[in-house]
Amino acid sequence: MEDFSGLHKLTPEERLAKVKRAANLTDDEAAALRDSGALKLDKADKMVENVIGAVHLPLGLATNFVVNGKAMVIPMAVEESSVIAAACKAAKQTLPEGFKAEADDPVMIGQVQLTGVDDVAKAVKNISLNRNEIMAIAIQLMKPHERYGCGARGFEARIIDTLRGPMIIVDFHIAVGDAQGANMVNTVLEGVAPTLAKLTGATVRLRIISNLAVKRRARASAVWRKDVIGEDTVEGVLDASEFARSDVYRCATHNKGIMNGIDAVALATGNDWRSVEAGAHSYASLGQYHPLTHYYKNEKGDLVGSIELPLAVATVGPAMSTSPTAKIALKIMGVKTSRELAMAMACVGLANNFAALAALSTEGIQKGHMKLHARNIAIFAGADAEEADRVAEIISKERNFDAEHAKEVLKRVRKG
Ligand code: MEV
Repeated sequence: MEDFSGLHKLTPEERLAKVKRAANLTDDEAAALRDSGALKLDKADKMVENVIGAVHLPLGLATNFVVNGKAMVIPMAVEESSVIAAACKAAKQTLPEGFKAEADDPVMIGQVQLTGVDDVAKAVKNISLNRNEIMAIAIQLMKPHERYGCGARGFEARIIDTLRGPMIIVDFHIAVGDAQGANMVNTVLEGVAPTLAKLTGATVRLRIISNLAVKRRARASAVWRKDVIGEDTVEGVLDASEFARSDVYRCATHNKGIMNGIDAVALATGNDWRSVEAGAHSYASLGQYHPLTHYYKNEKGDLVGSIELPLAVATVGPAMSTSPTAKIALKIMGVKTSRELAMAMACVGLANNFAALAALSTEGIQKGHMKLHARNIAIFAGADAEEADRVAEIISKERNFDAEHAKEVLKRVRKG
């Protein structure tokens, strides 16, 4: 494995050369990255309505990750300056052991909503009695995907009470392989719905995947040794974690910090980050809204952190062919399956959370954050890469981060 230490000290071109070597990227792939993954207007026009341009984000690499014994560099697309640096630092502090991770088989839940039934109990019974007929349709619809390990696994019918009367909800369990699964699942649901209507006399309403992908969870854990992070940080993270467990205002921000990392990998790999967000926060709300991470101190006094959340992410599917860099990001990571990707993402989420709690509970985040932010302001003020460091240094010293002020400072720098 190529040595990625000190990556931040290299120029973007040098980094690109390094990752090209390490991940065996072709010249075209390296060129696509150098081109900042530019999405051409005509391609964008095929993706959504009324296209007038495309939006770009920086794509960086999180280093120092060892996941289940395998070293990994993880591409992250994010505009917030401290997120990648934080992930790298937290991951480094887990070395040499790194992270342990696992992920469930990729089974998604899809829902059919049946309304307008007088005797819902009888209708549910009728669905059960005709289980084989319903499953045969679902299995048939999944046949084209069977060779990828996909298939209809089962279903459950239940009654919910609503302000519009009782409704029957049929939850289908569909194995979707390395896809996110929405298209496959929704096709099955629309395919079985007429039979459900015939068996129950119901009006079929919604037929849609659930983003609360509880059957498709990923887990990761790591140990941060007290001789590496210091005893005060161990105690600080435990205090911070307990704060989140006991207070929903804090918990929202705690989980946001986790999603900083997870969303950035989702974006880099062309995944639907809105569904990932929906899954994470609805999962966190099961019971009482709770932190997605958990920490405790082991018998040696070291800090053990873990994370668990649904991660319905794909390594194949439409996003891979529309995002110019998604496939390259997966190649850099060296992951092939959706489970491997979910495991890596869980590790990044845990790393970002640990980094935030460690900083917040000790020196605070503003010092590091503003240093990086100052550079962004300098660039926004018109500074080139070299000038940006100087402008950032001055506005940080003067503690004035106003954009107009940064422009003045830039003028001064240019005058020498
Ligand atoms: C900022 O994007 C994320 C944090 O607020 C997360 C946290 O508070 O745990 C720093």
